[in-house]
Amino acid sequence: MADLYQYRETPDEPLDCLYILQSTSADPLDRLELSAKERKALKQKMKALSPRGDEGEVISGECPLEMAHRVTFIGVGDEKKLTHATLREALRRVVRQATKNHEYQIGIAIAVRIKGLAESESRTFALLEAALADYTFDHFRSKKNEFDKIDGLHVVPMAGETPEELEARLQRVRLYANSVRLARDLGNRPGNDLTPEALASTAREVCGDEAGLRVTVLGPKELVKEKMGGILAVSQGSEESPRLIVLEHRPKKPKKSIVLVGKGVTFDAGGISLKPAKDMGWMKYDMCGAATVLAVLWAAAQLELPFKVVGLIPSAENLPSGTALKPGDIITMANGKTVEVDNTDAEGRLLLGDALTYAERFHPDVIIDFATLTGACVVALGHEAAGAMGNDDELLEALVRLGEEVGERVWHLPLYDEYFSYLKSEWADMKNAGSRWGGAVTAGAFLQQFVPEKASWAHLDVAGVAWAERERSGLPVGATGFGVVLALSWLEQLKR
Ligand code: BES
Ligand code: MN
Ligand code: ZN
Repeated sequence: MADLYQYRETPDEPLDCLYILQSTSADPLDRLELSAKERKALKQKMKALSPRGDEGEVISGECPLEMAHRVTFIGVGDEKKLTHATLREALRRVVRQATKNHEYQIGIAIAVRIKGLAESESRTFALLEAALADYTFDHFRSKKNEFDKIDGLHVVPMAGETPEELEARLQRVRLYANSVRLARDLGNRPGNDLTPEALASTAREVCGDEAGLRVTVLGPKELVKEKMGGILAVSQGSEESPRLIVLEHRPKKPKKSIVLVGKGVTFDAGGISLKPAKDMGWMKYDMCGAATVLAVLWAAAQLELPFKVVGLIPSAENLPSGTALKPGDIITMANGKTVEVDNTDAEGRLLLGDALTYAERFHPDVIIDFATLTGACVVALGHEAAGAMGNDDELLEALVRLGEEVGERVWHLPLYDEYFSYLKSEWADMKNAGSRWGGAVTAGAFLQQFVPEKASWAHLDVAGVAWAERERSGLPVGATGFGVVLALSWLEQLKR
């Protein structure tokens, strides 16, 4: 993992290479904070190399400045069309190029702006993605990936960006990047390594003492005491016992109370309603919502946010066995409501229902849950946005707007009263699954039955965005950490 610096802090030695991102529409050098001499020398060099700025273009030459040995222009295409994804891809290309050339200390000049974004938002995104561009998960490889060998990323300031401004941005970006990396690392751990118990012990290690959160873990006994029939039912087919992990950031005199809930199914085979073998391995990612919540809580403590932030992570493994939950079973949830289990593969909502009930004791003003909840949401939105539902349009619209800005898109889906009737049961208060139709919104309607009355609530179905099956939009294969930046930005703007 590369450290982020301002390039003027560059040590005595020159950098291996200076990377300059370039569009087809503007001269990148005019937008960078360079001395007249530097600018002139680079302009001459640019003329000689004549890069066009086309997307995918990589052109290198000797660097005319003392600060670096080489200079490389990385094209991003037409700036008027520049998206979060294109910029992320370009930054990934920088890392790939640097790795290939054994460059360990590199300069980076990102003088382009994403379409539709203000300068400052675009800048923050670019720096954050630069800090994440070398992410790779090789924990289980005996021969480590060569991809993350860059030691230092030295950021060239934009014209008019003072060292103080840049430093403040870099500080925030370092924290955000660490939080995203934490979420990705957790998400990428396979089911045999990251069991509910392991998730709980990781939460203690990462979020406990030093990080400053209060960590409480409810094990099977406590879950029985709390009558968490949903969490217990999901886990009963597995040898791994369930957990409810509670992470609390508790400042003095908090201005608000926020509860974040994350689905933590460490492996989802579907239970007795077994999933097909093809692609079942991806279901190790069914705890990505939990990963996001854990990472956000860790960062919330570092940011010393002035409100109470609580993370609730119900965690279980969903497997078939002789003791497993069966279709037709009727269970009683923590809030006393009964559920006819129509499909044991609709397990996430059983866990989340109990966690939402548990949220009430924190008197939340707002609850946001993150869950890889339905394949139907992926059918609807693909990999481009999370589906958002809830009981407060203002909150949902705020998340949509913010998601657009930070590059974690969210699309508002309806929660019409009628959807709950899709879950009518002959025998119990509700079924846990409806027919094929409206799969994402009926899941939302189910969750709504467990939301504490006074709370604003948003449910983010991240099934399509929590991981990438192959590299896409400049995101690495595996867990994306989706939701971390969105949630942290949302929490930070609450402060204002
Ligand atoms: N974890 C899955 C949802 C999922 C599917 C996430 C594909 C990512 C990709 C969830 O537990 C599930 O199995 N949902 C069922 C619900 C259905 C049985 C009502 C689904 O979507 O098929
Ligand atoms: Mn399932
Ligand atoms: Zn699941």
